[in-house]
Amino acid sequence: MRQEHIERLAEIETECFSTPWSDESLAAELSNPLAVFLVALCDGEIAGYVGMTQVIDEGYLANLAVTERFRRRGVAKALLDELICLAKENDLSFITLEVRRSNEVARRLYENFDFDEVGVRPDFYVNPVEDAILMTRIF
Ligand SMILES: CC(C)(COP(=O)(O)OP(=O)(O)OC[C@H]1O[C@@H](n2cnc3c(N)ncnc32)[C@H](O)[C@@H]1OP(=O)(O)O)[C@@H](O)C(=O)NCCC(=O)NCCS
Repeated sequence: MRQEHIERLAEIETECFSTPWSDESLAAELSNPLAVFLVALCDGEIAGYVGMTQVIDEGYLANLAVTERFRRRGVAKALLDELICLAKENDLSFITLEVRRSNEVARRLYENFDFDEVGVRPDFYVNPVEDAILMTRIF
């Protein structure tokens, strides 16, 4: 992820989430040494992105979003493939994430990448209030 991607990624956040990351939050990750943020480009256009924070040997996947027009073309798969490659290169022990209980598409995607459901955070999300399912892939 580079500065030139930030404005469009903030728009994609707004399109995809009820509590989107702002331009400022995304830009702050550019100088965060613990952040691994990858942008998918299709024919030069920003299709989506994934963001992870690494703390020692732990990965926390914070964001994954693909804009509507580019969905169902394997963009999220490509982003996760690359992120998992980097996680292995960096000797992470696991990647963990939270996903809304009702987000069946994302839950299926993560399952296909060998993330297991390991817990629930009740009422974790707001707008609307909903449980988070905790999913973890151990390497
Ligand atoms: C979830 C999301 C990132 C998937 O992006 P995508 O680029 O369309 O996903 P892909 O094309 O790589 O699909 C990967 C797999 O996900 C699953 N999947 C994706 N979209 C799906 C849909 N509409 N219905 C059912 N399964 C779906 C399938 O298992 C698919 O594999 P397949 O095509 O071989 O069946 C995208 O729908 C999105 O941005 N949603 C809104 C934001 C969000 O929910 N992010 C996750 C927060 S934790």
